[in-house]
Amino acid sequence: MARVHVIANQKGGVGKTTVTVNLAAVVADTLGGSTDAPPVLGVSTDPQASMLEWANRVGDALPFDFEQCHDNPALLSKLRDIDRYAHIFVDTPGSLEDESILRTVLAQADDVIVPLEPEPMSFSPAARSIQRLVVPLGVPWRVLLNNWDPRDGEADLTQTREYAAARGWPCFNTVVRHYKLHTRASAEGVTVVQYAKNRVALEARQDFFKLALEVLGGQGGTARHAAVSANGDPANDATVGVYGVNAGEHAREA
Ligand SMILES: Nc1ncnc2c1ncn2[C@@H]1O[C@H](COP(=O)(O)OP(=O)(O)OP(=O)(O)O)[C@@H](O)[C@H]1O
Ligand SMILES: [Mg+2]
Repeated sequence: MARVHVIANQKGGVGKTTVTVNLAAVVADTLGGSTDAPPVLGVSTDPQASMLEWANRVGDALPFDFEQCHDNPALLSKLRDIDRYAHIFVDTPGSLEDESILRTVLAQADDVIVPLEPEPMSFSPAARSIQRLVVPLGVPWRVLLNNWDPRDGEADLTQTREYAAARGWPCFNTVVRHYKLHTRASAEGVTVVQYAKNRVALEARQDFFKLALEVLGGQGGTARHAAVSANGDPANDATVGVYGVNAGEHAREA
């Protein structure tokens, strides 16, 4: 069974689609698998379908399978039953209007990633989504600071971390920095794994690889549906996610 990661925040424009596409891309690229049977499915539940447009522009180079599902609640409520993939990354709408879609898909989540921009206008809307929709689920969730521009200095970042800490919000260590490359990627039809191999592009890409390591192996950790470890024992907390993925990979290749 797949592990379902839902990227959610009802505030618009915080980076849900950017994070979903690039996280799915680095996980798919790293886990390998064949083009016929990629290990990752990306799902968009946003009626605005910006992930669909992006995926279409990437075309055959997209390293994961993709489904646009906003009008398919039956499928959305069965994401966990899909057994072809090791991981499913789900993009969600950035508005209050489509809350029923969001609730349906959150009920399928093994963990939730809440992107947040390091600026005060973003805080209250994120807090509402977290308190009303995410915390009540009882699954692991973490806030992801996204779109921080180091040229603006550390003040906004520190303030955002303090705000999160004061509310007891768990945060990823990884901060996804602002890069023009990310802003242009959708229009140019690339994901982070197709960026050119120059220093800036490698740095931009690194944030998503670090994030993937935290998502797959970190404290968000014990995958609800993880397979047992290679030696047949349930793995300990630190390794179950990683071994679960590997075991699934080998099983599919076999
Ligand atoms: N780390 C980043 N670096 C540069 N640009 C970014 C970054 N994250 C997001 N952006 C840009 O910010 C804008 C909003 O991002 P995105 O569309 O991913 O947000 P969203 O939460 O999915 O929005 P919506 O709620 O409208 O669906 C886009 O133009 C995107 O390219
Ligand atoms: Mg979006």
